[in-house]
Amino acid sequence: MARILITSAIPYINGIKHLGNLIGSQLPADLYARYQRGRGNEVMFLCATDEHGTPAELAAAKAGKPVSEYCAEMYEVQANIANRFGLSFDHFGRSSSDQNKKLTQHFAGKLDDAGLIREVTEKQVYSNADGRFLPDRYIEGTCPNCGYERARGDQCENCTKQLDPTDLIEPRSAISGSTDLEVRETKHLYLRQSAMKDQLDAWIDSKSDWPILTTSIAKKWLHDGDGLQDRGITRDLDWGVPVKKGDQDWPGMEGKVFYVWFDAPIEYIACAKEWADANGKADAEWERWWRTDKGADDVRYVQFMGKDNVPFHTLSFPATILGSGEPWKLVDHLKSFNYLNYDGGQFSTSQGRGVFMDQALEILPADYWRWWLLSHAPESSDSEFTWENFQQSVNKDLADVLGNFVSRITKFCRSKFGEAVPEGGAYGKRENALIEELTRRVRAYEGHMEAMEVRKSAQELRAIWVAGNEYLQAAAPWSMFKEDPDQAAAQVRLGLNLIRLYAVLSAPFIPETSARMLSAMNTLDTSWPDDVAAGLSALPAGHAFTVPDVLFAKVTDEQREDWQTRFAGTRD
Ligand code: 2FM
Ligand code: ZN
Repeated sequence: MARILITSAIPYINGIKHLGNLIGSQLPADLYARYQRGRGNEVMFLCATDEHGTPAELAAAKAGKPVSEYCAEMYEVQANIANRFGLSFDHFGRSSSDQNKKLTQHFAGKLDDAGLIREVTEKQVYSNADGRFLPDRYIEGTCPNCGYERARGDQCENCTKQLDPTDLIEPRSAISGSTDLEVRETKHLYLRQSAMKDQLDAWIDSKSDWPILTTSIAKKWLHDGDGLQDRGITRDLDWGVPVKKGDQDWPGMEGKVFYVWFDAPIEYIACAKEWADANGKADAEWERWWRTDKGADDVRYVQFMGKDNVPFHTLSFPATILGSGEPWKLVDHLKSFNYLNYDGGQFSTSQGRGVFMDQALEILPADYWRWWLLSHAPESSDSEFTWENFQQSVNKDLADVLGNFVSRITKFCRSKFGEAVPEGGAYGKRENALIEELTRRVRAYEGHMEAMEVRKSAQELRAIWVAGNEYLQAAAPWSMFKEDPDQAAAQVRLGLNLIRLYAVLSAPFIPETSARMLSAMNTLDTSWPDDVAAGLSALPAGHAFTVPDVLFAKVTDEQREDWQTRFAGTRD
C-alpha cells in the first residue's frame, strides 16, 4: 500500500470562492485523493483557509467585524461549502491556528540560525489617517504614464505599466482615500533565497517528470534578470503570525507579523498537526507524513495549485524547508492549472463576476458541477465556462449516457425478472468483447488518473460509460427476451454488474451519484476492478436491488436562459 500526501492550495479567507478557484486546485486534488483511496492506498489530503494578510483585514473592516471574528465565521462558511461539494479533506485547517503560529516562528528561527535571514531597512508609505503602513497595492493615484486616475501603487490596471507607489501623481490611501501620506523608514526580515539558488536549481533539475508549465515558471524566476531575489518575509500589520524566533522575541521586530506568503505554505504542515490534535492522535501520527526521519521518506507528496501559485511552491516554500536544515518532506509532484474563464471574460472575486460555489449549489447538485469542471479542466491552456457547453455536457454525458444506462437496465429487469439479478444463460462472444474493451479502457483510465491527466481521465471514463450503452443497444435484451430469455437474463446480469462497476470507477468524479448507484445495487462492495471480468460478477444471481430515482435531470433551454441572465451581472 502506497502512502500519498496531497495538498490543495489554501483558499484566501475573504469570501466564497468561484468555480474558477475550485477547478484550479481543490477539486482536482479531491479527484486524485478519492482515486488513490479507491485503489486502496493510504491518503492524507489536507487543505485550509489562508487567513492572514491585508485582504483579510480589509474584508473584515468592510463587514464591520474584528478580523479574528470575521475569519472564524468565513472559515465555517468555506468548510460547509467544501463539504457540500464533496471535497474529502482529511482535515480542513486554518493558517491562523496556534499550530501554524508556532511552526512558522520555528522555521524563522531555524532559518536565522542557518544565517539565511538578514535585516533590511526600507522606506514605505505610511498613512496617518489609517494609522498604518500601506502595501503598494493599497495606494492609489494617477498613472504618470496614461493618466488613469485609479492606478495602483504596484501597477496601472489601465496601461499595465509596473509602478512604484512614489511614481503616482496625487497618491491616496485606497482604504480611506486620505492623502495624508508620508514615507517612513521601517525594518524588515529578508530570506536570503539568493544564497540558495544553486541548491534550488539542482532540486528543480532533479524533477524531470514535472510538467513544463511548472518547471518553466521556476526556471524563469531562478535565471531571468538578476536571478532569484531575496524576499521580505515580514510586514507592518496587526493581523498575522507575530515575528518571533522560535519562542523568543526578535529584537527590533516588535509589533510586526510574518508575510502571508511565508506562513501560508507552512500551514500545509501545521494542518497535519491540527488533524492529529483534533483527533487525539500523538505527534508521531502526523510526523510520519511530514518528517523524513520519522517515516515520511516513503511518502509521495503531491501538490495542486493554479499557475499563479507556482513560484511560491517551487522556490519560496522549498527555500524555507531546505534552509531550515531539518528533514521535512519536499514536494514530489506539482500539478498546476491554467485559468477557467467565464462566458467571454474572467471570473472575478473583486467584481463578483461568474458563478460562485454557493450559487452553483443553489441551482444544481455538486456532481453536475464536478463533472463539468473536471472534464473541462484548464490543463494545457485556459478554458471557458459557457452555459451552452454546460447544458450539453450534463445532458449528453450524465443524463443520456450514464443516467439512461442505469435507468434502462434496472427498469427492464424489474419488469421482466423482478428486482433481483436474474439467473440463467452465460456470457458469450458479445459479452467477452465488452469485457475486453473495458479491461483496456480501465487500464488506460488508471494510467491517466495516476498521471493526474484530468481531462483524459474524464474522456476515458465517459468512453467506459458509452461502451456499456452500446453493448446494451446491440444486445437488446428486450428483443432477446422473447426468443431466448436465458440469454436475456445473462445480458441483464452483466448490465446490473456494470452499474456497480461504473459506481466504483466514477466515484472520484461524481461521489454522490456513485453512492446512490451502489445503494440501488444494494452493495457495499467498492473493490476496484483490478480484474474487470471478476468485477463484473460481483453481484451474483438472486442479489436484490432497487430501481433508483432519475440520476441526472436534463438542463432545459429555459433553465439555461434563466441562469444565463441571472449570472450575467455581478453578485452584490
Ligand atoms: O492564491 C491563493 O489563493 C493563495 N491563498 C494560495 C496559498 S497556497 C499556500 F501556499 F498555502
Ligand atoms: Zn497607466
